[in-house]
Amino acid sequence: MNQNILVTGGTGYVGCVLTPKLLKLGYNVRVLDIMWFGEECTKQFEDHPDCELIQGDIRDETIVKRALAGIDTVIHLAAISNDPCSDLNPKLTQQVNYDAVKSLVRLSKNSGVRRFIGASSSSVYGIKSEPDVTEDLPLEPITLYAKLKAATEPIILTEKSADFVPVCIRSATVCGYSPRMRLDLTVNILTSHAVNKGLITVFGGQQKRPNIHIDDITDLYALLVEAPAEKIAGEVFNAGGDNYRVIEIAEMAREVVGGDVKIEIADVIDERSYHISSEKIKNVLGFIPKRTVRDAIADVKKAFENGLIPDYQNTRYYNIKRMRELYH
Ligand SMILES: NC(=O)c1ccc[n+]([C@@H]2O[C@H](COP(=O)([O-])OP(=O)(O)OC[C@H]3O[C@@H](n4cnc5c(N)ncnc54)[C@H](O)[C@@H]3O)[C@@H](O)[C@H]2O)c1
Repeated sequence: MNQNILVTGGTGYVGCVLTPKLLKLGYNVRVLDIMWFGEECTKQFEDHPDCELIQGDIRDETIVKRALAGIDTVIHLAAISNDPCSDLNPKLTQQVNYDAVKSLVRLSKNSGVRRFIGASSSSVYGIKSEPDVTEDLPLEPITLYAKLKAATEPIILTEKSADFVPVCIRSATVCGYSPRMRLDLTVNILTSHAVNKGLITVFGGQQKRPNIHIDDITDLYALLVEAPAEKIAGEVFNAGGDNYRVIEIAEMAREVVGGDVKIEIADVIDERSYHISSEKIKNVLGFIPKRTVRDAIADVKKAFENGLIPDYQNTRYYNIKRMRELYH
């Protein structure tokens, strides 16, 4: 059993659910994160005896070497993690989402890391007409964010060797509650609008968007830590749950939130539309998401009701607003 895991970006939206999960499973977890979104969510794990939190930049090789000491598995989440943030400062994005990944993989291998799990994105496919987008289809990334995700996959996967197991996950858009909440992700935005404004604005609405519940994607990362090397080494897997049109998600949010919620349709801004197939990961690892988009909507609604997301307009819930504060 691998004992020591480094989670880069471990204080982000996905990381704040994954890190406590790994600790609960009995791993020693080191988190390396620049902590752009504050320290609030780390309270739940920073005092854990098996957790070490390093505030630092993955572009800094000295810190990365320190963070990698004694590590068996790296789960690499740290990134400028959506399209508008990536476009805001392309130079920084290139450094964080590409250059730093290249050096992180090299340094991981040199340091004796045996497994490297990379968080890619289903946005690498771009707009596809195929009814089910499988991993073997050509990548047609549209945005800088997606292009760099596509470019880093081979950098990670070609390092495969007898004692280095690299794997990349093309995650659907994640949804549901995290102690480091993001309200800039499709299901979460629509739920927030329903709860806080009673009005859901849908841009277009006919686009299909694959989603995955945050508890499922974090279960998957945890599963990959122990998955048989021969099944995953050098592989890329789609990971998605429900595939709905955006308008269908809005209607679901209206129904789950209840009360008088209106839906208005505005001009389409983001035309990306795809339906990903997650058959490969099901066949190879038996991984099937257990939660639904409806569950995610209900979880986010409950989090608002319980005061866990105070002030829904706070910039820390929106990556682009936070990045503008930091870099402009
Ligand atoms: N959330 C999604 O819907 C989704 C979908 C597909 C893929 N992904 C990928 O999953 C990963 C996690 O996404 P998330 O939603 O948790 O994003 P997030 O923005 O909430 O978290 C990213 C974390 O990385 C940290 N970080 C950024 N630059 C850093 C640097 N230079 N050094 C150290 N830390 C740095 C940030 O402080 C943040 O805590 C990302 O790689 C993202 O691209 C996310």
